[in-house]
Amino acid sequence: MPVIFGKAPGKIILFGEHAVVYGQPAIAIPVMDVCATARVLPILTEEAGRVRVQANDIHLDALLDDLPADHPLAAAIRATLGEITPQHTPSFTLQLDSNIPISAGMGSGAAVTVAIIRALSAFLGRPLPNERISTLAYEVEKLHHGTPSGIDNTVVTYQKPVYFQQDEPLQTLSIAQPSFWVIADTGEKTPTRETVAAVRAGYQADPAGYQSIFDAIGAIAREARQTLSAGDLAHLGQLMNENQSYLEQLQVSSPALEALINTARGAGAAGAKLSGGGRGGNMIALVPPEKTRQVSAALQNAGAVRVITTVLKESTP
Ligand code: MEV
Repeated sequence: MPVIFGKAPGKIILFGEHAVVYGQPAIAIPVMDVCATARVLPILTEEAGRVRVQANDIHLDALLDDLPADHPLAAAIRATLGEITPQHTPSFTLQLDSNIPISAGMGSGAAVTVAIIRALSAFLGRPLPNERISTLAYEVEKLHHGTPSGIDNTVVTYQKPVYFQQDEPLQTLSIAQPSFWVIADTGEKTPTRETVAAVRAGYQADPAGYQSIFDAIGAIAREARQTLSAGDLAHLGQLMNENQSYLEQLQVSSPALEALINTARGAGAAGAKLSGGGRGGNMIALVPPEKTRQVSAALQNAGAVRVITTVLKESTP
């Protein structure tokens, strides 16, 4: 029997993180330069239901039965088995590899889950459609970060730029011209669960104040969608800067993020902001094509632990 693979990319949120948890629209794109890969190999044994899980990046080598119910990898495997073969579990080894930075706002949890569901459903002879993969992944996302909006599982499952709003049909983006995005990692980790919970605590303490920030971020995401389809990259950069100032008001920024954001702006970016949960992880900068190298070099010199450039165009991926 051949080895079966499933892959899923990383992602960045261009506009609207956090407010999207409260029903506002947000824009996210896949980052194909980093990805999670799951491999399923049959175990040749008489014994049914012997499932081994190996993930080098997190030094895990365990039997599925020994993993707790809320372990995200185990949950992804169990959700897929439950969907396809609830009565009979075959024996197999599932191996995972990912070069998506963990707890860095690039959707590593969602990508690992989607890669597992893709590989395992194919191994079981019933590859699932994207809609079902994303729904199962959303259930697992709840273990990763409590009250997810669903944007991460959606963008990494469909692998295309999305304009996402909870409980609304998925909408794609119209993109007038290619844009260049530099992604730089502060190296500081903050699990999304923590920043989402911190924003919730802030919202509970000051519902009206937080709601007005969410509304303002939602308006920026709507305008950004039109700006992308009109191809006005200078204005898109301004919208990023405005979005960043609202994220600072939500207290999900950090000195390390702001140092890289200011570096990118100073080196010629049209705009820059944090991306994802914040308080660490990655920032992104929208950069005129001729300044990509200059901005990347400045970010590296300023201490970014990893710098990636990605291009957003109509046909992504
Ligand atoms: C995380 O990538 C984005 C957040 O808005 C959380 C979510 O949407 O689930 C911070």
